[in-house]
Amino acid sequence: MASSRFEVDPEDLSLLQTLTRISNVEELEEHISSVQNKANRIHNYPCIGLFVFTKFNIKLAPKYHHVLSLVKSHTDAIFLDVGCCVGNALRKVVADGWPVENTIGIDLYKEFWDIGHEMFKSTPDSFPAGFVGGDIFDDTTLAPSFDPSNKASTISSLESLNLRSLTSLTPLRHRVSAIYVCNVFHLFNVEKQLDLAKRLVSLLMRRSGSVIFGSHGVVPAQRAQTLDPGPTSFHSAKSFASMWTTVFEPGSVEVSWEVKARPRKKLSVLGEWDIISWSVTWI
Ligand SMILES: C[S@@+](CC[C@H](N)C(=O)[O-])C[C@H]1O[C@@H](n2cnc3c(N)ncnc32)[C@H](O)[C@@H]1O
Repeated sequence: MASSRFEVDPEDLSLLQTLTRISNVEELEEHISSVQNKANRIHNYPCIGLFVFTKFNIKLAPKYHHVLSLVKSHTDAIFLDVGCCVGNALRKVVADGWPVENTIGIDLYKEFWDIGHEMFKSTPDSFPAGFVGGDIFDDTTLAPSFDPSNKASTISSLESLNLRSLTSLTPLRHRVSAIYVCNVFHLFNVEKQLDLAKRLVSLLMRRSGSVIFGSHGVVPAQRAQTLDPGPTSFHSAKSFASMWTTVFEPGSVEVSWEVKARPRKKLSVLGEWDIISWSVTWI
């Protein structure tokens, strides 16, 4: 995988140059390549080999402008990136106006987050986003509590939180306005994807416009029909979207999705795959 080339569009290149303070493109490539080597030693996810960690693809999400509007109407709104890796998506939302102290990432590997500081030439003081290192499925990272009828979502209970002091996501239950989860769902089978969805629902603030969104690989529709639909299988775009309607009370959310690309390369767990871009918005 590490044989892919570092290629970003001009907008992303410009942001990378600003954040890293490296304007010379060759020097930037060397810097990125050294970060990539270190990241690969932590865990060689395809997104590292494919340089996805250098892109700000969150800007392509159909709901991106809606997401940014949430912090304009509520300046204390919280943004969470699940499986944030080096924190590239967080850098982008902060560059686009989300107050950094109201952003937080979670990743299995704290080392990715530390490498993110190295990559973007920042420190926890110069980029004071919150970060929780841990497994999102681990109850110490996020205590389970799934009750779709729980109305304790409560704008009124929103006293301000110091996200940097958090070591667990549990205090954020029903407090997060935007949850981004990109290239993560496809790491798990349908059973675990449902568990993940429920965990994310427990964090979402029940306020009009609050949103969970992202993109990831799914089984193409034609092949999905031939697969055993058992708990250990993977979702098609359609079944992934339907999953969300089962974890919210009826009529409370709008689920949107589109299959936005069909990469020819195979992804080990999925074989041939499509990419779904999706969002679930609290009405
Ligand atoms: C394929 S990478 C995607 C990174 C980034 N979101 C992107 O789109 O470029 C998956 C990320 O999810 C993290 N991850 C995997 N399983 C996780 C878990 N159970 N809990 C928290 N993070 C997890 C990985 O460490 C990795 O950084």
